[in-house]
Amino acid sequence: MTPHAQPNCVIRPAKTEDATICGQICYKAFCTLNQSHNFPCDFPSPEVAIGALRMMFSHPCFYCVVAETEGRIIGSNCLDERSTIAGVGPITVDPDTQNRRVGRMLMQAVTDRARESNAAGVRLVQAAFHNRSLSLYAGLGFDVREPLACMQGKTLQRAVPGCNVRNARPEDVEACNALSRRAHGFDRGRELRDGIQDGKALVVEREDRITGYTSSLAFFGHSTGETNADLRALIASVDSFGGPGILVPTRNSALFQWCLANGLRVVQPMTLMSTGLYNEPAGAWLPSISF
Ligand SMILES: CC(C)(COP(=O)(O)OP(=O)(O)OC[C@H]1O[C@@H](n2cnc3c(N)ncnc32)[C@H](O)[C@@H]1OP(=O)(O)O)[C@@H](O)C(=O)NCCC(=O)NCCS
Repeated sequence: MTPHAQPNCVIRPAKTEDATICGQICYKAFCTLNQSHNFPCDFPSPEVAIGALRMMFSHPCFYCVVAETEGRIIGSNCLDERSTIAGVGPITVDPDTQNRRVGRMLMQAVTDRARESNAAGVRLVQAAFHNRSLSLYAGLGFDVREPLACMQGKTLQRAVPGCNVRNARPEDVEACNALSRRAHGFDRGRELRDGIQDGKALVVEREDRITGYTSSLAFFGHSTGETNADLRALIASVDSFGGPGILVPTRNSALFQWCLANGLRVVQPMTLMSTGLYNEPAGAWLPSISF
């Protein structure tokens, strides 16, 4: 089907007070999509979606936009600018106005912004079962990079010998940034500091040296380690993961198979996509729902 453009659609920066309507649209858009494919909704309630968008709309390091037609908000999108690489999402359009090029305009707005602010690259995580978003992002120049499994549960193995997991502290950030730079070529220190402030960030130590960290074991958190053992220690240290789950790169067979053997369940398949700079990561890592 060739979509017709939504008439009179304009894109403008999001205001914090837009979070209520945008969160309701976000909840409805994901529930409608996921339920039609027999997947659980990404957000448990409209309030959770509203809270997530309120955080992003008011955060100084996020660039957020809304789509409006005749004064009525019909969608939104966010760009996480906390790192050298910018992360897109969540992007949602009201199901009543989908497939009319509003999503394309919302994507164009954040990729234009990333180019103007000289981001080295832009990344996102896509619901692998969604034909439309896959086509939209690929059509805008995003490359498929990594297949992911969103996984949830509690591991049978509750610790990894030789690995000590503890809460991350502000003085750990530099060691964690060094791990990230070694694995990815850039650091995500601002995200990590947000995770420490929220009490969600953890580090893993081997022989009193930091060998892995997570900003949060959650849909919205990322993790990096020297080896799979470091990630296994982090994953085994919590009883469940925030939101729908953690994102495990399925080409990391050893880690994915360990997760399965330990009782974690696949919630949904997803795909990491990128445009601009991309380095094949060296080390063990879990992306966030942003990248
Ligand atoms: C994903 C979403 C934001 C896209 O917004 P939208 O306004 O519906 O999409 P658009 O009309 O702008 O773009 C759809 C594009 O995909 C194309 N497309 C749709 N289905 C397609 C298919 N099966 N094969 C090939 N192309 C397809 C359309 O032709 C259009 O491309 P074009 O602009 O080059 O013609 C929206 O559908 C949504 O909110 N979905 C639910 C939430 C969601 O999935 N968010 C993204 C998470 S990854």
